[in-house]
Amino acid sequence: MARIDWDDSFSVQHEELDGQHKKLFDLYNELHEALLNDSVENTTVTRTRVLDNLVDYIDYHFKSEENYLTEIGYPDFTKHRRIHSDFSKQVNRLHEDIENGQIIFTTSLLKLIRNWIIDHILKMDQQYVSFHKT
Ligand SMILES: [Fe+2]
Ligand SMILES: [Fe+2]
Repeated sequence: MARIDWDDSFSVQHEELDGQHKKLFDLYNELHEALLNDSVENTTVTRTRVLDNLVDYIDYHFKSEENYLTEIGYPDFTKHRRIHSDFSKQVNRLHEDIENGQIIFTTSLLKLIRNWIIDHILKMDQQYVSFHKT
């Protein structure tokens, strides 16, 4: 399971949103580290806190991206917002299950989050780039 490193293929050609995507990668990478580092001080509490930050930031980013898409009159806005909201519900549920001790945090969860973020930025977010450039 790898980190996510930024490169230009992720760029949505919008400074603020690129900055938020980079921050998302940073928070994901922190979670990645927290999970793979087996040191004594790296307890479940630490991992849950890092997951907290990521989940909060995902919601923050979705809101600002949606505001931007509304501003530019993006035609696929409703679909984009639904995809955000489905993922947000999914990670929030995972987050709760982890906090309640119903599931443990594993690399497969990390992989799910990683794949979703990468796939979403490269496929869905890239679609509004062609719209706002024209
Ligand atoms: Fe995004
Ligand atoms: Fe998005």
